[in-house]
Amino acid sequence: MKYIFLPILFSVIIMSSCQYSQTAEDKKIDFKVDSVMRLMTLDEEIGQMVLYSSDWDVTGPSLKKGYMDEIRKGNCGNIFNAHTAAFTHKLQKIAVEESRLHIPLLFGYDVIHGHKTIFPISLGESASWDMEAIEKSACVSAAEAAASGINWTFAPMCDISVEPRWGRVSEGAGEDPYLGSKIAAARVHGFQGKSLADTLTVLACVKHFAGYGAPLAGRDYNTVDMSERVFLDTYLPPYKAAIDAGAMSVMSSFNELNGIPASGSVYLLKDILRKHLHFKGFVVTDYTSINEMLNHGVVANEAEAGKMAAKAGVDMDMQGEVYYKYLKKQVESGEVPLQAVNEAVHRILKVKFLLGLFDDPYRYCNEAREKREVYSPAHLEASLDVAKKSMVLLKNSNNTLPLKKDEKIAVIGQLATSTRDLLGSWKAAGDWNFMKSVLDELKAYNGDANVTYAEGCKVQGDDRSGFATAISSARGASKIVYVLGESCEWSGEATSRTSINIPGVQTELLEKLKALNKPIVLVLMNGRPLDLSKESELADGILEAWFPGTMGGKAITQVLFGKYNPSGKLTMTFPRNLGQVPIYYYEKNTGRPNYLSNPKYKSRYIDCPNDPLYPFGFGLSYTTFAYSDIKLSGKELAEKGELKASVRVSNTGNVAGEEVVQCYVRDLVGSVTRPVKELKGFEKITLKMGESKVVTFTITPDMLAFHRADMSYGTEPGNYKLFIGTNSRDLKETNFRLN
Ligand code: BGC
Repeated sequence: MKYIFLPILFSVIIMSSCQYSQTAEDKKIDFKVDSVMRLMTLDEEIGQMVLYSSDWDVTGPSLKKGYMDEIRKGNCGNIFNAHTAAFTHKLQKIAVEESRLHIPLLFGYDVIHGHKTIFPISLGESASWDMEAIEKSACVSAAEAAASGINWTFAPMCDISVEPRWGRVSEGAGEDPYLGSKIAAARVHGFQGKSLADTLTVLACVKHFAGYGAPLAGRDYNTVDMSERVFLDTYLPPYKAAIDAGAMSVMSSFNELNGIPASGSVYLLKDILRKHLHFKGFVVTDYTSINEMLNHGVVANEAEAGKMAAKAGVDMDMQGEVYYKYLKKQVESGEVPLQAVNEAVHRILKVKFLLGLFDDPYRYCNEAREKREVYSPAHLEASLDVAKKSMVLLKNSNNTLPLKKDEKIAVIGQLATSTRDLLGSWKAAGDWNFMKSVLDELKAYNGDANVTYAEGCKVQGDDRSGFATAISSARGASKIVYVLGESCEWSGEATSRTSINIPGVQTELLEKLKALNKPIVLVLMNGRPLDLSKESELADGILEAWFPGTMGGKAITQVLFGKYNPSGKLTMTFPRNLGQVPIYYYEKNTGRPNYLSNPKYKSRYIDCPNDPLYPFGFGLSYTTFAYSDIKLSGKELAEKGELKASVRVSNTGNVAGEEVVQCYVRDLVGSVTRPVKELKGFEKITLKMGESKVVTFTITPDMLAFHRADMSYGTEPGNYKLFIGTNSRDLKETNFRLN
């Protein structure tokens, strides 16, 4: 890089954009990037390392005033929270027509589970175990966002979590590294499509790197401390899968990991991200997380924080103004090597080329396309489809569900009429004003005359004054449909809880309704595993609907009336109470497992069973499935061989249904202790009434690798158990040996 001022030779440099696939293409882009960089001053380079929020949505402090002027001066190369084709066009015009080098802006936004058409929250989507549906959701979200000026989404969130107290479990894919990895890859494919240069795709950002899902005590932003083995074997795989799927940006998280804040961690950003995962894109911080290193107590001032981040490999400072204020001096004094800046800018500009922004900076701000894409009938249909697939039937005694058309139902609960709550947290640009509530949809389907409604109580608070009306309105009905749970504000960032009970007096009202002796169906809206011990006793049917998105009211109605047979399965364990947390299916056996005959000295609670209320992978259907025993192609797995494990699954009920067939293994003796079960495969199948299918899993040695006692990654010969079944608890079992 040379500090030269050249008249605008830019048009010469702007060459047609290329697709990112071959090394030759890669080299071409590197060449173009270099030719731009030769024109840049140090100030302009640092400008590319800066990301400011527009004055729209913000999730943190310190709104940069005058960001438009900074764009003009070349001090800000990237904007987030700006959307609509018109607004982004206005900002892009400043960058491209008024800044010296005309370098186009990146526009980032939290398109987490939809842009305008909102899909179920990510935890809900994960419960579909349907990779095609999840990819489709990301693909639709990308198409809408990309038509509204956005070219970069801060998703997917790949944080494994076993912490229901942590409100952000709603944004992830649950507790399991294997499933989490499949979902992370599906989301990246959905967002980025086949080519970043495609105008219907957006750049994905893998977040929050790393370990953000394991805050102590479930308190958001809190300390994360875990062994390197747990980090590598359990928390890292989904981030890796997203990077392997081609994600070209990564967000460094707020948290510290084992004493070092992520945004200053050479271990995370260089050793793991660059050397181990071979990541080639750029790293952006989370919101002001460079500045927050002061509060973490690893630096004494902001300048030091910036230096630490730059040296660790942070390429872009989100909202913190630290690079903006200090980096130039630090490079000039030699405190930060110029090479670190050059490399960062190279990575950022390269992504801009890949997105085709140098070819046509306005390609993402197209008002006609925006009109066509946003809320298109096909997108709404996709959202409805994914919403239905996300729902999990937790209980259904005496076939209370499905409801029968024209039966008299009493709808209760504030959430039945709320459209805002259907969208959940991170509603992006989603608009709840035109949406239909659960009550609207139930009435539309079952007829006004067959549906009564009373709020009963609010989601929060202790006002019981509506109880009497709710009880009397339920008297004339044949079934009660009570929509309850958490409000959407209780989910997402900064919404940690110390209780995972259903809030307010909602459960108290359920107790009163129970006295009417009528079948009660609960429709749950929530973004985390809840303690449903009481509710599962009182209710006859429970449908976990999460926050199901724009089409949520209709999706719930169709599932309740059996127009869609529920097929979702939990991706986080639902405990019996908070005291069991953290609870997850891949626990270790311990030296004193609960099954020992000794009545006292073993790993157990004296006041509660060890097992959860609803295990990982659990979910019912309106039909039933029977599993045959497992057929294994052999009992010995050779070093380079494979085994085929098959079961016959039969639909033994009265309607067609879908089943997620799950395959787990257990390594019985390892050089380090091994989990009692690990998910290694799954397949979602559809079976007509009376139909059966053989499902086969291929077991290969690489699936059994882990970080061994000496921290090397690989397998160990020995005996294994293999399980196949309907959830992590109810499984058929066999065994094999790895040679
Ligand atoms: C969140 C990120 C988000 C960013 C930008 C932060 O507060 O942790 O997940 O992408 O804000 O909105």
